[in-house]
Amino acid sequence: MAYRDLPSPVHVTEVVTRDGFQSLDVFVPTQDKIDLINAFVRAGIRRVEASSFVSPRAVPQLADAAEVVAGIDRSGGVRVACLVPNAKGAERAAAAGIDEMVLLVSTSESHNQTNVNRSVRDSLDGFPAVIDIARAHGTGLHGAIAVAFGCPFEGEVDPERVAEIAAHMAGLGVRSVSLGDTTGMATPPVVSAVCAAIRRQCPGTEITLHFHNTRGIGLANVLNGLQIGITRYESAAGGLGGCPFAPGATGNICTEDLVYLLHELGIETGLDLDALVAIARRIEGILGRPLPGQVMKAGPRLRRQSIDSVRRAVG
Ligand code: COA
Ligand code: ZN
Repeated sequence: MAYRDLPSPVHVTEVVTRDGFQSLDVFVPTQDKIDLINAFVRAGIRRVEASSFVSPRAVPQLADAAEVVAGIDRSGGVRVACLVPNAKGAERAAAAGIDEMVLLVSTSESHNQTNVNRSVRDSLDGFPAVIDIARAHGTGLHGAIAVAFGCPFEGEVDPERVAEIAAHMAGLGVRSVSLGDTTGMATPPVVSAVCAAIRRQCPGTEITLHFHNTRGIGLANVLNGLQIGITRYESAAGGLGGCPFAPGATGNICTEDLVYLLHELGIETGLDLDALVAIARRIEGILGRPLPGQVMKAGPRLRRQSIDSVRRAVG
């Protein structure tokens, strides 16, 4: 039984090769991306946001989306999702044979303009073309609502506005949405208000929470999400991440830290924490710098240290 009747199991989507790599100033080699995703699958990940079929000029770090998808070992049943901003992206994604197209829109005009160079209305009007292509290829659909808990340009976002966008997506047959906390503006009361509005306006929609740890309360938001019954979360190995088209965007909540918390709460994830830590270390090796993840440094709480490893406080 999970702590205080929290839900179990919880499903974790790994997003580091998309959200984590999209704003790096280096290009992670395609084979490294493939090897990492295959290692996540061996560690138990069952849904991965592998890449984005966006303009390679806008996001050159993910220009190899099709090659990455082609290299993923899908024999174990992992769902491969990718961001798809328009019909051109949908054609490319369908040709690559992904499982799920992620339709992208922001709650605010300003972020939608910086992120996809068009108005919110134009993004919504573009969805049917993407959906038609997905349906023709038997590809699944998922929505991603960016700046769902606050916008770095416009401030507070009305929860009813987020729910209206979710309802619009549901009307088009997209009944599974991620709420993106693009610049870490979510707090537990804000998350509760947005989820409540969506549950009122579109009760058939399944919510996934996508937090960034920009202000240090990403896992507090997860705990709140669990308390209101949300069982799907997106996170990035080592806590890498960030949107290049939003000021001050920093890392996603860290997959290993999230899984450590979930396991300590008695929640099943199907994930191997040691294997996830090893993958995060491998990413540190690829990038040649430390990542924000904390469990990868400290180990789980019962990791024993050698007494010889510290100085003795002799007065
Ligand atoms: N894949 C590849 N190329 C694409 C593309 C796609 N999905 N969409 C557009 N392009 C190309 C067009 O073919 C065109 O190329 P050309 O000049 O050689 O003919 C060029 O990009 C401009 O096309 P246009 O439709 O005018 O796009 P735009 O300049 O208005 O940019 C997006 C719109 C959506 C393509 C762009 O803003 C984008 O890729 N955003 C990515 C956002 C993102 O990933 N954010 C991070 C996640 S939160
Ligand atoms: Zn994100």
